[in-house]
Amino acid sequence: KEPNVVESQEELLQVKELYVPLEKKEETILEAEELVKLTLSELDLQWLHVLADGWAAPLEGFMKEDEYLQSLHFSTLRLKDGTIVNQSIPIVLPISNSDKERIGTERKVALCHPDFPGKPVAVLRNIEIFHHHKEERCARTFGITDPRHPYTSVIYESGDWLVGGKLEVLERIKYGDGLDSYRYSPRQLKEEFRRREADAVFVFQLRNPIHNGHALLMNSCREKLLQKGFKKPLLLVHQIGGKVKDDDVPLDIRIAQNEAILEEGILDPHNTIIGIFPSPMIYAGPKEVQWHAKARMNAGCKFYIVGRDPAGMKHPGTNRDMYDPWHGKKVLMMAPGLEKLEILPFQVAAYNLKSGGMEFFDSSRPEDFLFISGTKMRKFASTGEEPPAGFMGKKAWEILASYYQNKRED
Ligand code: ADX
Repeated sequence: KEPNVVESQEELLQVKELYVPLEKKEETILEAEELVKLTLSELDLQWLHVLADGWAAPLEGFMKEDEYLQSLHFSTLRLKDGTIVNQSIPIVLPISNSDKERIGTERKVALCHPDFPGKPVAVLRNIEIFHHHKEERCARTFGITDPRHPYTSVIYESGDWLVGGKLEVLERIKYGDGLDSYRYSPRQLKEEFRRREADAVFVFQLRNPIHNGHALLMNSCREKLLQKGFKKPLLLVHQIGGKVKDDDVPLDIRIAQNEAILEEGILDPHNTIIGIFPSPMIYAGPKEVQWHAKARMNAGCKFYIVGRDPAGMKHPGTNRDMYDPWHGKKVLMMAPGLEKLEILPFQVAAYNLKSGGMEFFDSSRPEDFLFISGTKMRKFASTGEEPPAGFMGKKAWEILASYYQNKRED
């Protein structure tokens, strides 16, 4: 097999970043100072980061109405040359009535950092302002409009207008939380894949700590790639870095837990990279899993692992799965604009009580298996009980258990 990752410098440069070129930075900063200023929310900044790094390429900024409608109704964008690219979720910037009035007839605005009001982080040019039909956006994105959903609530609380335009970001987004070095941009990832001479990069998107069921998926995937003839498959364990719902484990704990998994040798420490994907999580199941895959395709990943209920959650009203747990996988395998990505689908993994390890569930003998949910895990941790041996690495579990115990004491 020929290396199929980054073939050329040209391909590296193809990652379309939206940062201002160095030689234009000074003049753009001066220009921004004179513009109408909009203060971003923490979440807006995360989306701006996503756009700036090129995860959502070829998008050149927050969506204008035409892009928004295509994304909302078709889950794709049509480029000028007729190419169809996947863009299953809208990336938009909500603004209030008063912001809209302040903008008036201006054609560009400065976007300011949430923690440093008045400090521009970007200029948005050729702007267009259009109505934010929130209920419709929720219905089409999530399939529900219940305001108790963790992201519909964000939408309902946001401004009544959306402002789209071309983004020029003044500098790389840093969070100063000790985790910035994990936030590789697509360009940095492509460079790293090449430096390591990987001939196949497979990615695992997650928002949870890694248990041995997840590890089973990743290790089986490596096996499959070796069987296909690849010599140096490289795994990208890619944690969601943006806002997650309140009962998900915070990013720093997830990263420490994932590092422990590598130290314990549960995943191959030499051929695995742990990284952070700056996107917020929106919990839109089959719609969102396409976004997760598309963004990683932009970073040069060629294989995408998917299992049970990706980006899913319980319905906030009924507490049943919001989505059919297998629709994410099925949709991903048919999604328009993702043809260059090979999807590696997996069955559900559960704890086998007889063998004492995580295995693929066998429906002919369900009594042998135990499903250990997040709730069950939290219960183990808060009562100081160990989960069954073989569920999770020891050190990794200790990190998680101490997080849950501290949380309980708070
Ligand atoms: S997600 O929101 O990022 O998709 P999560 O971190 O729970 O959620 O899952 C990461 C990936 O592992 C997804 O592809 C999901 O389908 C898969 N997955 C999670 N748990 C299991 C399991 N027990 N069996 C099979 N696949 C699973």
